[in-house]
Amino acid sequence: MSMSQVGRHKASRKGIVLAGGSGSRLHPLTLGVSKQLLPVFDKPLIYYPIATLIMSGVREVLFITTPDDASAFKRLLGDGSQWGMDFNYAVQDKPRGLADAYRIGRAFLDGAPSVLILGDNIFFGHGLKSLLERAAGNSGATIFTSLVRDPTRFGVVELDSNQRPVSIEEKPEKPRSRWAATGLYFLDHKACDFADEVLPSKRGEIEIISILQRYLDDGNLNVETLHRGFAWLDAGTHESLHQAGEFVKTLQDRQGLLVSSPEELAFRHGLIDVDQLSALAESQKQSSYGEALMELVNQVHQYG
Ligand code: DAU
Repeated sequence: MSMSQVGRHKASRKGIVLAGGSGSRLHPLTLGVSKQLLPVFDKPLIYYPIATLIMSGVREVLFITTPDDASAFKRLLGDGSQWGMDFNYAVQDKPRGLADAYRIGRAFLDGAPSVLILGDNIFFGHGLKSLLERAAGNSGATIFTSLVRDPTRFGVVELDSNQRPVSIEEKPEKPRSRWAATGLYFLDHKACDFADEVLPSKRGEIEIISILQRYLDDGNLNVETLHRGFAWLDAGTHESLHQAGEFVKTLQDRQGLLVSSPEELAFRHGLIDVDQLSALAESQKQSSYGEALMELVNQVHQYG
């Protein structure tokens, strides 16, 4: 292995949030606003995948949006420095499919391994952080599966008795299991080359599943199953968006803790200090979200 290859494998993992798409299953909500900017109770949907990336140890993120929505994302998220992160933006001129993230993201990734997360996917649960950190340390590809009632709506993974993947199919008419592939993909530096070779599927999209198939063929696809205790929500329909909001509200009311707050996670991961957290709370203090952040600052001062 040459020195440049050694350097390449050690590059830190970068994040990509795919936040384009037409959001047609949420019309008319998404006629004027990007789906990923819609509220899930007290914060925009896009905050949840950002929280997942912070927990995964990612610091540099590329947001891929539609050309129309780019300015709104930049207004909301800026350069990421407020959360100790580094945010970058790229546009996708039309929704060509999820594998397009690796064509658009090639220059940004620059040979680094990545985490791709779909902008409408919410992950929550005890032990999630260690699961994500483990995936970040894996070579090859790691995906997460969750049991679903209607697998025909998802990428479906068939597992053998050792929980190793046997097959993976996008929205199969006759699913071989009820294990859906969630919208979170830890891929190594090969993903961009694989993406270049993907041909459009029957529905005319370049599918992420085609990239995963390459890893599976090479024996490099790891699958983590999200069992009971984990919530995975994709907020792509009116029903699921509403459910996600209720879920977050119920948990926050009950526990008095914020779910997937980038400010809190940035603080807990040492990306910002308590004074920066306090300033972020102060600037939003007219909302219950800002109040909850202020409460957190007070607790830190009181209990350390
Ligand atoms: O949510 C998990 C599922 O996500 C997986 O099980 C499937 O394997 C995967 O293909 C995907 O299926 P969806 O049908 O839910 O994907 P959808 O087209 O809704 O796109 C997901 C998100 O990605 C959505 O927030 C919009 C964004 N997107 C989508 C496409 C196709 C883009 O930004 N650009 C695109 O070209």
